[in-house]
Formats: sequence, C-alpha cells, structure tokens
Amino acid sequence: MTMNVGIDKMSFFVPPYFVDMTDLAVARDVDPNKFLIGIGQDQMAVNPKTQDIVTFATNAAKNILSAEDLDKIDMVIVGTESGIDESKASAVVLHRLLGIQKFARSFEIKEACYGGTAALQFAVNHIRNHPESKVLVVASDIAKYGLASGGEPTQGAGAVAMLVSTDPKIIAFNDDSLALTQDIYDFWRPVGHDYPMVDGPLSTETYIQSFQTVWQEYTKRSQHALADFAALSFHIPYTKMGKKALLAILEGESEEAQNRILAKYEKSIAYSRKAGNLYTGSLYLGLISLLENAEDLKAGDLIGLFSYGSGAVAEFFSGRLVEDYQEQLLKTKHAEQLAHRKQLTIEEYETMFSDRLDVDKDAEYEDTLAYSISSVRNTVREYRS
Ligand code: HMG
Repeated sequence: MTMNVGIDKMSFFVPPYFVDMTDLAVARDVDPNKFLIGIGQDQMAVNPKTQDIVTFATNAAKNILSAEDLDKIDMVIVGTESGIDESKASAVVLHRLLGIQKFARSFEIKEACYGGTAALQFAVNHIRNHPESKVLVVASDIAKYGLASGGEPTQGAGAVAMLVSTDPKIIAFNDDSLALTQDIYDFWRPVGHDYPMVDGPLSTETYIQSFQTVWQEYTKRSQHALADFAALSFHIPYTKMGKKALLAILEGESEEAQNRILAKYEKSIAYSRKAGNLYTGSLYLGLISLLENAEDLKAGDLIGLFSYGSGAVAEFFSGRLVEDYQEQLLKTKHAEQLAHRKQLTIEEYETMFSDRLDVDKDAEYEDTLAYSISSVRNTVREYRS
C-alpha cells in the first residue's frame, strides 16, 4: 500500500499594498477592459523595499506552524526566483526566524515558477522515506517587469507556505506526476538584471503547448481522463493564462465535464485576481483559492495540478482531498488579509516600485509589518521578529 503523503496545512501571504488595475490602465492609456478581461486581473500586490521573500515566507509559514511542527520539521525548502543572495539560501534565515529545531536541511530551489513544485516533490519523496518527519515548503517571489513595461499588468508578490507530512489533512498526492523539460527562452533573468527578459507571445504559446503535451502523455500513462477530475488548478501568471490552456484540451469532452472544470477554474483564480503573479506560489495560491471558494468539492475528489516554469519545465500531478479538509483551511484569515491591504495611487505605486533597498549602505528601516527588514549592516538584512 502506498503511504498517504501530501499537504497537511497551507497558507499564503501577500504584501499589504495593492494597485487597482483600472487605475493602472488609465495611467498607461489602455482600455481598462484589457487588464480586467483580456489579462483577467483586478488588483496587483506591491511590496515596499522593507519586505522581501524572507518577509513573505516567514509571515505565510507563521500562519500554519505549531510548536510540535517546529520540533518535527527536518527540512525547509524555499522555491524562488527572487533570491536575495547568490550563495546563501533564504531558507536558512527562514529556519532561524521560525525557530525550527536545528537538525534540519535548509536550501533554496530554482527553476522559474516551477521551483515551488520542485520543492514540493522533493518534500513528498523525503516524507515517503522518513514518515515521522515533516517538511516546510515555501514558494516566495516578487514579480516585477518594470514601470510601463509589457509585463507590468502581470506583476505581483507574495508567498505560499505548505507543511508536507504523512496522513495530511488537506490533500494526499498520487504517485503519478509527469514532468516535461524544454530548453526555451520565453522568460529568463540573466545574473545582475533587475527585471526578466520576456518574450510574451512565446511564453503564452509555450505554456499552452507544455500543458497540451504533458496532459496528453499523462492521460496516456495514468488511468485518469478529464471526466475523473473534480477540478484542475493551474500556474496563474495572470488569470486568463490558465483558462487559455484549459480551453485547448476541452474539445471532445462531455458538456458536463467542460462546465464543471471551467466553473472550478473560476474559483481557483479568485485570489490571483487580487494579487497578481506570485511566480512559484501562483499554482498553490490557486489551489488555496479553489479549496476555500468552491463549495461543492468533497473528500475523495480528484484534483489535478499543472505547474509551469519558464525556460521551460512543466509538470502535471494529482491528489485526492482528505476527509474534513475544509477544517484545515484559513479562509477567514485569508479574506481579512486581502481586504485589509492599502490601495496605492499610481504615483505612490511608482514611488514604492522605484525605491530600492541599498544593501551597500548601513541603515535602519521603519515598517510595522512582522518580519520586515529592520536594518542593513555590512550588506546583511536583519528582520523584525
Ligand atoms: P500584451 O501584448 O500587452 O497583450 O501582452 P495582448 O495584446 O496579447 O492582449 C492580452 C489580451 O487582452 C488579449 O486576449 C487581447 O485580445 C485582450 P487573448 O487574445 O490573448 O485572449 N484585449 C482586450 N480584452 C478586452 N477588452 C479590451 C482588450 N484589449 C486587449 N479592450 C502579456 C500580454 C501577458 C504577453 C504580457 O503582459 C507579458 O509579457 N506578461 C509577462 C509574461 C507572462 O506572464 N507570460 C505568461 C506565460 S509564461 C509563465 O507563466 C511563466 C511566468 O510566470 C514566469 C516564470 O515561470 O517564472 C511568467
């Protein structure tokens, strides 16, 4: 019998500021419907310079970890493409800020937006070999393309934290994942560049083609067809993207299956519409959104997950919802977090966006958010606790 391994707890954190996409469209002289309907975004999360991937990761993880978890976790993996150091992993700092017992591995994984899934798969395999332990996986990123750039309406920021264990209380994964690697330059960020290079049309094309290729092979190799799934959850760089990929495989499916999967897709994008792209965290923000907003899912339901990281690596895998999974969710906390953010004017957003943390200058910083950067000394960031 295969062991039940999966996500026991999960939560997200987004920075406490956002821009309204209608305001952004007006400022950029674009029809607001392009952003609201064409791209599918209502709001975009923005972070000040005192909040980075460690800040997001720590706040997200704090929402889910008990004292017993801190004692049992023996591995901390951060998936990110917004690293703050070329050598030292943010997971090491996260490990200290959270107070996790010291006999643990901590490291960072990178492959664009796929990094969170690589971390999750690593965690699942570790738990299969060490069923008594727990692994903390955090996907944390800042998606920035530049002011008035083509990618600007698809920016965002935030983290998703997941505790992986045996007998998980939210979703147990099947051993059926299928990955695809293709060396394609659709989106990349050379060392030293603040913003990614991106070929927008190629990136959307590659995303769709990757999904079609993986899906076709997955359904061939596994026992599953679309009709078996209660819902599919996608990497969501902007909410229209997953839908385009989904529409590309619906032809020939029953009307019931098409309607069901499309209706669930809408539930999975509710949070992303308000936060934008979280890069590594986007698929998992989508999963949280699906589970917290789809009223008619139930224990035993099969959920498919499609992960995509530019460059490009894609993966499809699945899991089944666990009895009483609803009780593990933090729906109220998440709704409050999204509702209590401050809306920025475009001028405030542009000022915040352009204000960079200078790690070569020792300084103290003010910020009321927990785990925000309190100072920089000798290029080292210190965080409030
Ligand atoms: P663009 O050129 O600004 O937009 O680029 P467009 O001209 O392609 O229009 C977008 C959509 O808006 C179109 O819909 C238009 O028709 C529609 P579609 O035909 O595609 O269905 N539209 C309107 N709709 C209603 N009313 C209107 C209106 N006007 C136009 N008035 C693009 C858009 C997403 C390419 C750009 O923002 C970009 O480059 N973003 C960054 C790249 C990206 O997000 N790519 C996604 C796939 S790659 C990925 O997922 C990986 C990633 O997360 C990174 C990683 O892995 O680390 C990005």
